[in-house]
Amino acid sequence: MKFPSLFSPLEIGPYQLQHRVVMAPLTRMRAEKPSLAPRPLNVEYYAQRATAGGLIVAEASPVAATAFGSPGVPGIYSDAQIKGWREVVDAVHAKGGVIFLQLWHVGRVSHSSFQPGGVLPVAPSAVPISSELKTMTADGKVTAYETPRALETSEVAGVIEAFRQAAANAKAAGFDGVEIHGANGYLLEQFLQSRSNLRTDQYGGSIENRARLLLEITQAAVEVWGANRVGVRLSPYGIANDSGEPDPMPLYTHVVQSLNPLGLAYLHFIEPRSSGAGRAEVNHQNVPSAMVLFRPIWKGILIAAGGFTGETADAAISAGHADAVAFGRIFISNPDLPRRLREGLPLTPYNRATFYGGEAAGYTDYPVYGELEKA
Ligand SMILES: Cc1cc2nc3c(=O)[nH]c(=O)nc-3n(C[C@H](O)[C@H](O)[C@H](O)COP(=O)(O)O)c2cc1C
Repeated sequence: MKFPSLFSPLEIGPYQLQHRVVMAPLTRMRAEKPSLAPRPLNVEYYAQRATAGGLIVAEASPVAATAFGSPGVPGIYSDAQIKGWREVVDAVHAKGGVIFLQLWHVGRVSHSSFQPGGVLPVAPSAVPISSELKTMTADGKVTAYETPRALETSEVAGVIEAFRQAAANAKAAGFDGVEIHGANGYLLEQFLQSRSNLRTDQYGGSIENRARLLLEITQAAVEVWGANRVGVRLSPYGIANDSGEPDPMPLYTHVVQSLNPLGLAYLHFIEPRSSGAGRAEVNHQNVPSAMVLFRPIWKGILIAAGGFTGETADAAISAGHADAVAFGRIFISNPDLPRRLREGLPLTPYNRATFYGGEAAGYTDYPVYGELEKA
């Protein structure tokens, strides 16, 4: 067997994993429309990637109709969505897998065409994403981001409640836990970072204030699930969606130290070298390593993600930088990724053109090793 560290067992919360090859959360935009509920195609996709004792973090799922920024992503706020997710979860459990759901609010990474009533998306402050980045409207036109509307202080409790309800919905769908999406320039990271958060209330200004929303939402999820079934994803030093804190260390040190006493299932870090991998092929050079920086500060299980191979993942775990590694792009194109890594089998390359939207092509038609390419 290759990679003995990657293929050693690991306890995460109450779950006994048999290996440390985690499937990263991956937006694929293939939910049923207009219900935005998972459908049989999505069930097949997750079942293909499930392994006994393997952890899947299911794709980012908006916690409310106002939390979307792209078409065809599955929600977790309606009965139909809960029912659709239940089918996914049952299929993963049937193969002995463990599956968490990533809870998402995009904040300013949206467009009014995705918002109920066509209103502006909300954010900590009325600060738009750089005009150098473009977005798409709900009918597919490429356009600049709009200036979002700053949430009133009195509205913030509603955002926390949406996450709490989504966490409860994920429980009703049978998931094994939830991951709070605090990464990649979305709402919770917009609150964390000083360039997007110009607030003067208790949710802005000092590091303590900027971290408050993430911590309150994590606490709400913990109240629903118990801490050992809740994870948090962060991307310090990331630049996705026009994010980027001028001096990340003090901010993220505070966040990690504040999460320490909760006893969470895990903390999940995206390596800065891969920041923005969802949009384009990137390999940022001369950037710090999140796992190396935060491993000494974080007291719990650490999942690292971003540009890993079997070799580098195994080395990171044996060096003690991470407890498990999440794989994104190569899990898309290798449904049997854990086996391929364990046995040293060649990997099928991924096709970026089919990452987002569409049907089975580039989604459920990647072969398992030894199987002919599906027609
Ligand atoms: C198609 C695609 C969709 C993604 N969707 C999400 C997502 O829903 N939530 C998230 O936190 N990260 C998302 N990411 C980032 C991945 O989880 C991962 O951190 C990134 O791809 C780097 O890992 P890799 O080098 O193994 O692909 C996405 C990346 C890709 C390529």
